[in-house]
This record gives sequence, C-alpha cells and structure tokens, in this order.
Amino acid sequence: MNKNLKDLFIDFFVSKGHKQIPSAPVVPENDPSVLFNTAGMQPLIPYLMGQKHPYGTRLCDYQKCIRTNDIDNIGDSYHQTFFEMLGNWSLGDYFKDESISMSFEFLTKVLNIPVERLAVTVFAGNDLIPFDETSYNKWLSLGIPSERIARTVEDNFWIAGETGPCGSDTEIFYFRSNDEVPSKFDPEDERWVEIWNNVFMEFEKHADGSITELPAKNVDTGMGLERTVAVLEGVNDNYLSSVWKDVIKLIEEISNLPYEGNEKSMRIVADHIRTAVFILADPAGIKPSNTDQGYVLRRLIRRAIRHAKKLGIDINSDWEEKIAIKIMDKYESYYQELKDNHSVVLEGLKNEKIKFNRTLEKGLREFDKVTKDNTDIDGVTAFHLFDTFGFPIELTEELAQDKGLKVDIEGYKQKFKEHQELSRTASQGKFKGGLAGSGETETKYHTATHLLNAALKLVVGPEVHQKGSNITAERMRFDFSCDHKLSDEEKQKTEEIVNNWIKEDLKVTVEEMNKADAIKSGAECMFIEKYPDVVTVYSIGDVSKELCGGPHVKSTGELGHFKIVKEEASSQGVRRIKAILE
Ligand code: SER
Repeated sequence: MNKNLKDLFIDFFVSKGHKQIPSAPVVPENDPSVLFNTAGMQPLIPYLMGQKHPYGTRLCDYQKCIRTNDIDNIGDSYHQTFFEMLGNWSLGDYFKDESISMSFEFLTKVLNIPVERLAVTVFAGNDLIPFDETSYNKWLSLGIPSERIARTVEDNFWIAGETGPCGSDTEIFYFRSNDEVPSKFDPEDERWVEIWNNVFMEFEKHADGSITELPAKNVDTGMGLERTVAVLEGVNDNYLSSVWKDVIKLIEEISNLPYEGNEKSMRIVADHIRTAVFILADPAGIKPSNTDQGYVLRRLIRRAIRHAKKLGIDINSDWEEKIAIKIMDKYESYYQELKDNHSVVLEGLKNEKIKFNRTLEKGLREFDKVTKDNTDIDGVTAFHLFDTFGFPIELTEELAQDKGLKVDIEGYKQKFKEHQELSRTASQGKFKGGLAGSGETETKYHTATHLLNAALKLVVGPEVHQKGSNITAERMRFDFSCDHKLSDEEKQKTEEIVNNWIKEDLKVTVEEMNKADAIKSGAECMFIEKYPDVVTVYSIGDVSKELCGGPHVKSTGELGHFKIVKEEASSQGVRRIKAILE
C-alpha cells in the first residue's frame, strides 16, 4: 500500500459525508469507571445515547486505545497494550444497509481485497432480538455467498461493559492463509481473521438486564488498525508489519541481536515503550506512580527495562530514548500531543529508568538469593522486592514463572495494606485532585463545583452524587447521578441557592482528618478508595463538606455570579451541567 490504512480509511469516510473527529485522550476525561479508553466508541457513548454531536450525524476517526488486561500476553505475535482503532459512526443517520455497503466498498474497492477472501457473521437471533435478516440479505446482494455468512449469537452482540448502548453486529473476516480458501466459512478456523465489526446500536441495556430502544438507531464500527495492516501485508506476526518493522529493526541494532529467537523480549520492549510514550504524552499528565494509570505506566516501563536487560542492552545507555523517538517520529503527524510533549515523554521514561536502575541489579540478585532453593515466594518477600527494589508484583510473578515458582499474591496484598496504613502521612501529598497549580479562575470554578453539588442535593435530593467534573478557565462541567432531566424550575432554584451562598460570603475552611472520621462526619467524596487514609476536607460555611485536594478560594464572595448554561444527559442515570461564573 502506498498510502497508509489510516489515511485511506479517513479519506474514504470523509468522501461519504463523514466528519473526522479527533482521537480522544487515552485517559478518559470524564469517565472514572475505566483507566483508559479501550474502544473507539467509548468517547462517543453520550452521543450514542442520544446527545447531539457538534460535528453532526456521520463521524469517523482513529482512536488511541489501551487494554491493560493484556499486559501479560504481550510477547506473542499479536497482542498489544496500545492499539489504534479505526471507526465510522452514524448517529441516527444511515443504518445497516448503507453501513454494510460502505464497508464492502472500502474493502473491495479501496483496499482491493478480493471478495473470495471475505466472510461475515451476522446475528442469529435470540429471545429478545430476532435474526438479522437485513444484514444477511445485504451481504448476499453484495456477492458474499451464503456459505460464507455464518450466523452466531454470542459473537454478534456488542456491548462495551455490563450496561449501556448495545446492539447486534456483523463481523467481517479475511482469509489470511496461503491455503486455498475453503468454500464454507468457519468462524472458529483461525485462518479467518476478524478485521471489522459493524455494530448496529439501537438498544440500551439496563442494570436489571432489560433492554430498551435508544432514541435513535446508530452504527458503530471498529477496525483494529495493527491487525488489519498485518493481514493486508500478508504477515502472520503483527510485529513484522509496517507498523512495527522499523522499531523492531532498531531494537535489533541496539541489542545487536536478531529478532528471530528473541521475539518475546523485543515485542515487549517495542509494545511497552510505545504505550508508555502515549500515556506520558497524554494531556492527563500521568507520571509513573503506585496507583491507577501511573502504576500501569510504571509496570510497562519497568517490564520493558527488564526485557531490554535480557536482550543484553546496556540499560544506562539511551536505548529507551532512541526507541521512543522512533515511535514519536512515526506518529507525531497524527497526534499533536507527541510534538507538544516530546521532552515530557523522554524525561518521564528516563527518570523512571534511573529510579528503577538503582535497584534493579540488586533486586535481581536478591530474587536469585531467595529462590536459590527453588522455594516459592511468600508475601513478605514479594513485598520486600516491591518496597526495597521497586519490583512491581507482576514482575516478581514473571520472574518466578520463568523458574516455575509461585508467588503468594494474597500475602503480598496483605503486606501492602499494612504498609499503607503505616505510611498514611507520607501518602497524603499525593492526592491533589488534579487542580494543584491551577489559575485563579479555575480555583473559583472548583469552589463553585462544591456549591453546585450541595445545591443539587437540596433541590433534587440527597441521592445526588458527583460523577465527574471538568474545569477550564472558561466554564465548569459537572456530572451527577440523577434519573431525570432537570426542570426549568429546578435549574433556577439551584442557581438561586448557589448565588445566595455566594452573597453570604461563606468562609472556606480546610482541615486534615482521618478518612474514616471524615466519612462519618458526612463529608462528601467521589471515590472513597482513591483517597489516602488521612485526607483533607474542605468545608464551605456549613453548606458543604467534601474530601478534596483543593485549591479553593478563601470565601465564596470571590466567585461572582453563577449561571447554568446547559443541562443535558451524560450517560444512563447521569446528567451534566455546564455553568459559568460571570
Ligand atoms: N464497538 C465495537 C468494537 O469495539 C465497534 O467499534 O469492536
């Protein structure tokens, strides 16, 4: 292919009236339920649920995705922690017919895939939803013979998690092998590789298992970029496709070893450094740490270091920088943040490397010492390896596995917990609530967020809880649990209450408390488990009390006039308010 798949895909869908939307950050902006975006549709959920998208009803993009449940599988020929997903969407615009036509045209006319190498699955039907005859007939009409259309139930219904937008889908497979293409398609036959998934999102699944219709019939398609490129280039190993080839070549040069025979470690180094680059470059500003996204980042970098060491690479050289630069060069014309945060990425990698290098050698010696009699690793030892030598538990597990030994994970967790209790005070400063160092206006909005939260509890009910918030110098956005659209009266009342509190010039005070005591005292908090054992609690007069890292204004008189500019659905059971201070 002269032009790369990403450009071909976007050009094609733009020519079909789609607007290209930018890839969302890898760390979801307002969805605390997941650490990373795992699918192209994830940032679009509110729009699939009925919210109007500012770009219209036909969208396409390439989306950065990270799946962390796969970390331990990296090293085989196709798993990756980071990947790009190509997608096109119809928000109440076209449906099955046109979606299938466009996919078929793209595959056969743009990518020039012979129809003989394609096969599809369609939804077979169950108690709730009937057989997808429309898709079946559509594929037939396009020239896919009935023997190449398999009907399945499990694999042809798509939902991102337990609840939310969902629907039946039709999956498109490509015959990758040099063998003769069998006339009958068997989805279990691994020579057929799924390359594209068209989901017809017309339902919403609720917590009780029931299914209702969405306000509109949508299409959500997803094509895994790396897999499809590998398939089209006829390689059986993703890491030998044009996506990875030059990175692997660079690792061969740095290590002075051939890829053949060293595949596992080279794939791990390539994959983990690439994912670390994208996490470090993300606007969320993630740094290696021992919690959440920061911990994933730490694990990736440390595992990459260990495998680089296995490849005989001099860890103190600038190997990681060379690889990261190669990766950034490849992607920066698509992702501006790689240009903007070039040095942030390199520094982030280097600092973590230096930190880990200080203890890696000693830690490995310690590991060999404690396992010299082939004894399994108890919790205390695993914790010691973590605490003293910075070995993430997963690394200890991997080292143990190489020797055929077990690790007492439960014992480790227990030790970890005890340690957390001890280091309460030390951990305090970690939770700054993402606003530390923010400007004066953002600080005002931050305080206004607390007032809005408290006012909504009075107007809507005590069951209202914060689900997310996002502040810029221009406005605040606040997501909260609520089962209905706010009436004009409710909005007005909320505004009034907040403005009255502002007029009263209530004092904002802060105190340090034990987490348990803070909760007992009725302080509001969003994610209890995310806070350390000693927390800071901000009170505003006696109207609001929240666990929070600050910063806040000194008294509410500083805020000016509060105004709600928008109230809309965010997701199932969650409403979103946009408000300004004027
Ligand atoms: N949501 C579907 C998937 O992830 C299609 O985009 O496969």
